[in-house]
Amino acid sequence: MEIKYDLKPASERRTEQFKPEGNVGFGSLRTDHMFLMDYHDGEWRDPRIVPYGPFEMAPGAMALHYGQSIFEGAKAFMHEDGEIYTFRINKNAERMNRSADIVCIPNIDEQMQIDAINALIDVDRLWFPMQEGACLYIRPFIFATEDRLSVSPSSRYTFCVVLSPSGAYYAAGVNKGIRLLISKTYHRAVSGGTGASKAAGNYAASLRAGKAAAQFGASQVLYLDANNQQIEEAGAMNHFHILKDGTVIIPTFTDTILKSITSQSIMELSELLGCEVRQETVMLDKFIADIESGEIIEAGGFGTAAVVSAVGSYIFEDGRVVTVGNGEVGEHIQRIYKLYTDIQKGHVQGPEGWVKRVERVAP
Ligand SMILES: Cc1ncc(COP(=O)(O)O)c(C=O)c1O
Repeated sequence: MEIKYDLKPASERRTEQFKPEGNVGFGSLRTDHMFLMDYHDGEWRDPRIVPYGPFEMAPGAMALHYGQSIFEGAKAFMHEDGEIYTFRINKNAERMNRSADIVCIPNIDEQMQIDAINALIDVDRLWFPMQEGACLYIRPFIFATEDRLSVSPSSRYTFCVVLSPSGAYYAAGVNKGIRLLISKTYHRAVSGGTGASKAAGNYAASLRAGKAAAQFGASQVLYLDANNQQIEEAGAMNHFHILKDGTVIIPTFTDTILKSITSQSIMELSELLGCEVRQETVMLDKFIADIESGEIIEAGGFGTAAVVSAVGSYIFEDGRVVTVGNGEVGEHIQRIYKLYTDIQKGHVQGPEGWVKRVERVAP
């Protein structure tokens, strides 16, 4: 499908490359345009790039009432040649359709999603923030727009992509461990539910748990399975831990764990990292015992926003604290972060097809 360009007049658009003075932060800024496409009468139609601005939407739009809404999160980077490159964007397009299946939203051809993202980045490329570690954060999302008060799949949807010029999540690298609350009260997902999708409602449901974590001085919750036996996720990241021989262990993907693109990538990088990376079911009791015995030396979370977060300590709801190693960020995590961000920035050649140049085709 051909994308229509309905752009802002040149006088209202950015005319030179964005050179922010301070750290631009993460997720707050927008660019001049957004991509839109609608679904009705059984088809996705009318792909277009338009000025960034509010939607007109019926108060009865089903996304607002029944939460039929999904999203993705990806990043693009500027390399030394001054061109912008997306990172594994095909994996996000694939996962968008998996999320869509889980909440009964019609799929969008993966190449169409990628074309939409590339076209938007191309139009707004001057918004790439010239700052060490910066990126264009890419937020594609789909929401139900049919004006009907009834719990059933909508017959109308909008697919939108917006961009957020963002700074490095950890401006000074991963230099401090976070604390996670091990919660037996709050759960993120149950088998047969929506945990393996990026459904908006999953994140609304996590807010209360996040508040509880803050009361314990923790940044996020370590989510367990509904029976409080197994480790599942670390807030909006996959959890991982590292054994004293350097082996990285990520909980096996199930229908209660989001299939993180960062985790999948770390698994694919095991040779370059020079260590084994594998998935297994992680039992909470054994995990804690292994930290205490020194068998586990580092732990953290994998996710697009931060890439890697290190966990310095865990706190139980009874106040018991378990510190990982000496509570500092370990060398394996530093090495993973460096290799991963070097590949993203084009300083190190990653596996074939991971970074793709955004072509200059905009009118
Ligand atoms: C619940 C959850 N788990 C894990 C992740 C990490 O996934 P990714 O590495 O694809 O960003 C995310 C973020 O997308 C998430 O929301």
